[in-house]
Amino acid sequence: MEYTRFMADRVKTMKGSAIREMFKRMADPEIISLAGGNPASELFPGEELSKIAGKVLMTSPTLALQYGTTDGYPKMKECARSRAQKVNSVGENDEILIVTGANQGIDLSAKAILNKGDKIVVESPSFIGSLNAFRTYEAQLVGVKIEDDGMSMEELEKVLKADPGIKVIYTIPTFQNPTGTTMSAEKRKRMLELASKYDVLIIEDNPYGDLRFSGEDVPTLKSLDTEDRVIYVGSFSKILSPGMRLGYVVAPAPIAEKIEMLKQVNDVHTPMLTQLMCVEFMKKYDIDAYIAKNRELYGKKCAKMVESMEKYFPAGKVKWVVPEGGIFLWCECPTITDIAPVVNRCLEKKVAIVPGSNFAIDINAPSNMFRLNYSSATLEKLEEGIKRLGEVLTEML
Ligand SMILES: Cc1ncc(COP(=O)(O)O)c(C=O)c1O
Repeated sequence: MEYTRFMADRVKTMKGSAIREMFKRMADPEIISLAGGNPASELFPGEELSKIAGKVLMTSPTLALQYGTTDGYPKMKECARSRAQKVNSVGENDEILIVTGANQGIDLSAKAILNKGDKIVVESPSFIGSLNAFRTYEAQLVGVKIEDDGMSMEELEKVLKADPGIKVIYTIPTFQNPTGTTMSAEKRKRMLELASKYDVLIIEDNPYGDLRFSGEDVPTLKSLDTEDRVIYVGSFSKILSPGMRLGYVVAPAPIAEKIEMLKQVNDVHTPMLTQLMCVEFMKKYDIDAYIAKNRELYGKKCAKMVESMEKYFPAGKVKWVVPEGGIFLWCECPTITDIAPVVNRCLEKKVAIVPGSNFAIDINAPSNMFRLNYSSATLEKLEEGIKRLGEVLTEML
């Protein structure tokens, strides 16, 4: 049976993430993945969380297993508030909502704001999950190039000036996915000035902000916002566990109210069991000490990746900027136009990387860039993966 005619126009042309497709092929244990965005599982507090899960189910079975409120379990909201307050990202007029991962927070924020055909500014390149969410609302993506210190403010002003229809800017200012870059404090202030001048909202997506391993912290856009223009989306995925699906949205009350209604339609509430587990974990253990361990490990892994790239990549053929935190490293190959054959050859050599086209506004345009992840593989596998990639690059560039 042919099903296309039954499908909504907005999903007909959608393409799944190549990363997810790659995951399906990664059942092969010999493949070294530098492709995903998984945090380091070797540090997951499995034992602590298994005891907590047992305790929660034993002592509070009704709370853990019954329906909960859509905005989140109150103690979990306090945990999220404490994380957001750490970076001064809760304003007087804001509400906090617990969401099922930052992904849901971004999706529902977009759903609350965007009509079909509305324009949204995004960094070019940007996180495919968010781009796909905006695409499902049939929004028009307006890409603004990203530089080593974040989105180009000249280009941003140009697009905002040219198009009064733009409603919102979506940005990942800290350790951006996929480029690993961080927007400077000056640019953050400028972005807020431009948002004010052209009367647009900002969605600030900050899942990696806690993962700095070198350099100085930069204030969040939300902390600099004096006009309640920023919707701040945080996550516990990269600081505790992505499988627990815990994120939060800090938004001006009228927007938060709409997001809450949309969430009710979407999944009623985020699972109570993982909310309760997170609350207990944060009560019993020092989450900042746990995050510090992750930061230290990511610093080591990033250094190992960079050292291996310097050793195994063909000299002068690949450009990259060393990140100060987060989990991604972005590479450009100026001597070619399309990285796709390299990515395919890499899979034959049993190493997985993601082509830059995945993060582009136009996913069909060829890209000479690729994204590497250093958080999930072990130090040994990182070196071996980069060695294999270096062999392919030497052969093909
Ligand atoms: C920039 C960005 N935003 C949001 C997410 C989604 O995070 P969560 O697991 O909290 O849904 C990711 C996940 O990789 C991401 O890279």
